[in-house]
Amino acid sequence: MNHRRLDPSPWIVRFAHLVPVGARVLDLAAGHGRHARFFADRGAQVVAVDRDAAALASLDGHRSVANRVLDLESGAWPLEGERFDAIVVVNYLHRRLFPHLRTALQPDGVLLYETFAMGNEAYGRPANPDFLLCRDELLTVAALPPSPLTVVAFEQGRDADGARPSVVQRLAAVGAARVWPPLVAPTTT
Ligand SMILES: C[S@@+](CC[C@H](N)C(=O)[O-])C[C@H]1O[C@@H](n2cnc3c(N)ncnc32)[C@H](O)[C@@H]1O
Repeated sequence: MNHRRLDPSPWIVRFAHLVPVGARVLDLAAGHGRHARFFADRGAQVVAVDRDAAALASLDGHRSVANRVLDLESGAWPLEGERFDAIVVVNYLHRRLFPHLRTALQPDGVLLYETFAMGNEAYGRPANPDFLLCRDELLTVAALPPSPLTVVAFEQGRDADGARPSVVQRLAAVGAARVWPPLVAPTTT
């Protein structure tokens, strides 16, 4: 799928207010970078990671985005020792990365995750269980060490909004070091 011209996911837009201006954001498996660009335009410093250099090149010239062409599925976690105020993952799943995502998140950080889930195979791709979340699986990611995240919002089910139905799971969670976050973006007067 060509994500170049796609708008950011409504789930990511809905919870973008949890990511402070100036935050260091990781867009994991960024593709053409619709979310990297979205957060950079909101004042974040974004690291966009993907193995597809041509896709990441869509972000060339954006001074608040650092592109990193990396294979996330071969070898050791390539971002060892790096910490992020927010991690965004959309339409990508590689379960071995879950513990690394949690340790890479600052204690007051934000995890925004959305991807396909079991049941999606009835409607099309992805249909491989390796690429489909199990029931409640993102909640187990939020509960991983080093300390459980506070789940701000979670949903799973059939989404009929797109061009074709899909089964998805979505999480917005913050580090326990955060005071209770606002559920909606504060309005400016
Ligand atoms: C469906 S696209 C999603 C792109 C983006 N997150 C979005 O929502 O627009 C999945 C992305 O995962 C990337 N990807 C798949 N396997 C990867 C790997 N082993 N290492 C790094 N990136 C990978 C692909 O190159 C592709 O850009």
